[in-house]
Amino acid sequence: MSGSGVLRVGLVGCGGMGRTHIRTLQGLRGFKVVGLCDIAQAAADRAGQDFGVSARFTDFEKMLDAVELDLVVVATHPRWHRAPTVAAARRRIHVLCEKPMALDLAEADEMVEAARESGVRLAIHQQNHVNPGIRKAQAMVAEGRIGEVLLVRGRNKAGRRSGNEVVEMGTHVADMMMCFGGIPRWVAATVLSEGRFGTRADVMDALEMSPKDHDSGWVMGTRAVAAYGFDRGILGEVHFLGYAQMMRPNYGVDVLGTEGQLAVRAAAGVVEGSNLWHLPRPMEGTPSQASDWRSVDLSDMGVENPIVTMYRRMSEAIKSGNEPPSSGIEGRWALEMMLGIYESHRQDGRRIPLPLADRQHPLERWRQP
Ligand SMILES: NC(=O)c1ccc[n+]([C@@H]2O[C@H](COP(=O)([O-])OP(=O)(O)OC[C@H]3O[C@@H](n4cnc5c(N)ncnc54)[C@H](O)[C@@H]3O)[C@@H](O)[C@H]2O)c1
Repeated sequence: MSGSGVLRVGLVGCGGMGRTHIRTLQGLRGFKVVGLCDIAQAAADRAGQDFGVSARFTDFEKMLDAVELDLVVVATHPRWHRAPTVAAARRRIHVLCEKPMALDLAEADEMVEAARESGVRLAIHQQNHVNPGIRKAQAMVAEGRIGEVLLVRGRNKAGRRSGNEVVEMGTHVADMMMCFGGIPRWVAATVLSEGRFGTRADVMDALEMSPKDHDSGWVMGTRAVAAYGFDRGILGEVHFLGYAQMMRPNYGVDVLGTEGQLAVRAAAGVVEGSNLWHLPRPMEGTPSQASDWRSVDLSDMGVENPIVTMYRRMSEAIKSGNEPPSSGIEGRWALEMMLGIYESHRQDGRRIPLPLADRQHPLERWRQP
């Protein structure tokens, strides 16, 4: 860290999300983007020109060696999350890595271990972890406003094929579920492919399923449903239905308690003014009773873009040595929850303990003859 306390940041991956990171950091005191890397020179140059950063590289190892950095932001596709994260951690540089954390749990283990060995902070950019609606809902649960938590229901944004959704968006949803359920202990899941049980022949690469989507490894299926068990007997459920249109208002988590419910819609805050609703009674009732839901005021939460909150909290974690929100360990649990869907399905929907015993991707193992 420079004498002024400013964190010097290097970015790996200057595409859509990478540029969002630079834009966010440039509006934040305490951070300075000093190095850019993209395997496509044109992408690094475009970002460098647009944001005024002159140190540009096509090889992240070279950037890590040439530029003095405190924090590396990894915004490549998941296939390229492990290598720059581990390379940075081994040089004692803190890392904020995009979701999903890695292609499989063996990679995630390596990333967590590299950070632990070097004593650096590793965060996974599941920014809804600090979404104002999530934080307010956590506070309301702690105050007993919905009684004892019984069930946490994850809700997807949709807009991509289900197989891709499990890995791409599923870890965001799993992370929001864990904000209320805690540590997941088991999963039982079923994956359908075109209306029948998915088989080994349905396993494919994410880019084969959706050539324009992110390069996130093995996927399968057109629909999936999963049940989870968390600590303290809290149940969880999530489904992937493969809706073609993106439905941002659906995206979030429901928390059902003995005396009421909470509904967070992570992406709704911008348009609605609040993204948290409270039903002060336990059961959902008929759709005509929807007006029973009350919008919850978030103004005591310090409402700001969760990406900004992630950076503020990362900076605090670096200074204090505490874990950041959505730490590498939490990001790995989110990946366990999603890859556990495939492992349970592979074993005919059996209830599978988490963490998974086998760290290889369940679908990679299944597809091998
Ligand atoms: N947290 C969020 O809200 C959010 C939103 C969108 C995307 N994402 C995640 O961000 C990541 C990037 O997504 P995107 O939409 O920006 O993709 P993108 O295709 O727009 O950008 C990826 C960039 O990485 C570069 N790249 C690929 N391999 C590289 C390597 N080895 N070294 C350096 N650069 C390399 C590519 O050339 C490209 O410019 C994905 O993991 C995605 O899931 C997160």
